[in-house]
Amino acid sequence: MKITLQNLTKKFKSKNKKDPNDVIAVNDFTYEIPEGKLIGLLGPSGCGKSTVLNLICGLEKPTSGRILFDGEDVSDVEPEHRGVGLVFQNYALYPHLTVYQNILFPLQNLRGKDKLTKDVMDKKVMEAAKLVQIEEYLERRPAELSGGQQQRVAIARALVKMPKVLLLDEPLSNLDARLRLQTREELRRIQRETGITTIFVTHDQEEAMSISDYILVMNAGRLDQYGRPQDIYDDPKNLFVAKFLGTPPINVFEGAIRGGKIVIGDEAVTDFDAPDCSVWVGIRPEGMTPDPEGTFTAELDRVEIMGRDTSVVCRHPACQSPTVRAVIFAKRADEVRPPDVRFALEPSKVLVFDRDTEERIRPSAEDNNEK
Ligand SMILES: Nc1ncnc2c1ncn2[C@@H]1O[C@H](COP(=O)(O)OP(=O)(O)OP(=O)(O)O)[C@@H](O)[C@H]1O
Ligand SMILES: [Mg+2]
Repeated sequence: MKITLQNLTKKFKSKNKKDPNDVIAVNDFTYEIPEGKLIGLLGPSGCGKSTVLNLICGLEKPTSGRILFDGEDVSDVEPEHRGVGLVFQNYALYPHLTVYQNILFPLQNLRGKDKLTKDVMDKKVMEAAKLVQIEEYLERRPAELSGGQQQRVAIARALVKMPKVLLLDEPLSNLDARLRLQTREELRRIQRETGITTIFVTHDQEEAMSISDYILVMNAGRLDQYGRPQDIYDDPKNLFVAKFLGTPPINVFEGAIRGGKIVIGDEAVTDFDAPDCSVWVGIRPEGMTPDPEGTFTAELDRVEIMGRDTSVVCRHPACQSPTVRAVIFAKRADEVRPPDVRFALEPSKVLVFDRDTEERIRPSAEDNNEK
């Protein structure tokens, strides 16, 4: 099912007397969620992700704007009739019920023409349990399961009614790193197998990048950018998005455009065809290669070896953060010697942003090509 969010806005009344302004949790959010895709909704804590999900499933009513399911306005449709499965951020299983009974629960609540026979319910529970691979644990109670197994039960419970839309609010937050990786791959598989339009909320950008067909990046209630994960990574529209995607994060320097070059400190690091101005220069860690002929110099702090890759950690007075990180192939680590390292920069990994608005500045030549 296709979900259309039109100028969706949600304000909460302030309960704080010192700050009587409303909290704008979601601000003029417009996006069309394509059918059958897995969408990663990404953003820092408090940016409005959970509120967007609550609006879609109907637990919250929008202050203004509309939500359409396959072109039909669902504003007046109650949550239980929207055909949405939701796994909450703090999913709660019923502790006194077995896994089987937990998954069965949403089906038992169906009334009237939707009511199912016992046999049909049993079949559906077994199918959902199989999908998340917890058939062995059906007779256990939640306390007798690991965190990851509990999380899978919560997902099965959301899936059992075969919703048209599945909303997952940080469903992997309680898992350790390995289980998290495994469960997210399972989620991707389940989504592909069922073709259910799925929105997956996370503040872990790597997780969102790895499993999503499309990513939406939210910032303070607004939709900042959307697109395919790699496109957003390569072509962020502002400094916030550039910093939010990527581990280690992009290195950001105070710099300037002078005479068709990007200047950091007293070095002209690469060509850039734009009018002279002060800018933020972002350099992705993988865009820096140690090279005696390189154009950019930083003071070496340490080298961190992390298996396949090596991080060269440096300092630079123009950098926004205390350290500059370059990620290089381990083989090249021998070429790095104190006190200073020279780096050659890969031009496509050097991104320029307006110093005031923090919007991306593209080279003039590129602009002409686009026109
Ligand atoms: N019922 C409410 N009443 C008042 N303010 C609320 C309410 N629910 C959320 N907010 C506020 O709205 C903003 C967005 O909250 P939301 O829960 O959507 O953020 P989030 O992106 O899901 O954050 P997190 O990653 O921490 O879960 C926050 O500033 C929050 O304090
Ligand atoms: Mg949340």
